[in-house]
Amino acid sequence: MAVLYTQDLHKQYVLGQHIVKALKGVSLSVSQGEFVGIMGPSGSGKSTLLHLLGGLDQPTSGDIHLADRNISTLSDHQATLVRRRNVGFVFQFFNLLPTLSAEENILLPLIIDGKNLKNYQEALNDILKKLGMENRRHHKPDQLSGGEQQRVALARALITQPAVLLADEPTGNLDSRSGTDMMLLLQRSARQFNQAIIMVTHDPKAAAYTDRVVFLKDGLIADEISFSADDKQPDRLHGIMATQERLER
Ligand SMILES: Nc1ncnc2c1ncn2[C@@H]1O[C@H](COP(=O)(O)OP(=O)(O)OP(=O)(O)O)[C@@H](O)[C@H]1O
Ligand SMILES: [Mg+2]
Repeated sequence: MAVLYTQDLHKQYVLGQHIVKALKGVSLSVSQGEFVGIMGPSGSGKSTLLHLLGGLDQPTSGDIHLADRNISTLSDHQATLVRRRNVGFVFQFFNLLPTLSAEENILLPLIIDGKNLKNYQEALNDILKKLGMENRRHHKPDQLSGGEQQRVALARALITQPAVLLADEPTGNLDSRSGTDMMLLLQRSARQFNQAIIMVTHDPKAAAYTDRVVFLKDGLIADEISFSADDKQPDRLHGIMATQERLER
């Protein structure tokens, strides 16, 4: 079942006299529990698409359905509620609050939604452990490395177990070992919690952990590769790089 789908999504940015057509008709459907990678050259519209999917910005035309609601027509207030209940975000710049500890940053979405934190202690400990962050829980963001801050941002997105997790370059600041750990965590999270994950990445190695890679080019879906669970990592990588090369020609 599709938890998220778009129909003919367009997004134009107006800059004075100039119009930038960032998305030119994107139709994409993502199932529950599916891990989707979005790739494409710089400026192809990846972040724009992710922002629209999460209801952070409005499309110029086209529809976005999230958890059975058409979010492209909701008021700001309604969109905020649908988003808070259903979507987790991990961004390129992860927006941690500097005065809060790692643990407090992770729990913040629950606090905002008025949840009883006692019910989440186990989930918190589990996520901190899986991310190798147990002994960093009382650190403030400026006492953490870039990679650790990124893991806090991921933990904050996972703690509410949202139906949809949106991630923009989640491995951007990580070394290759931590990057692999993060991909395995996302993969497991999709399976365990039946969570849809949409991840923008430039890294073919990261994309090779997904179920499907969607390639954007000039604001349109230019190609798509699906993997089966038996496909080996090197074969996946090869398929992704061959497609990238073909699209660059
Ligand atoms: N707020 C904005 N106002 C005007 N133009 C914008 C705005 N945001 C993005 N754009 C333009 O829209 C196009 C798509 O941008 P987007 O950020 O979606 O690209 P991207 O694929 O995420 O690139 P990157 O890989 O560099 O992050 C680009 O040409 C960009 O310059
Ligand atoms: Mg981007």
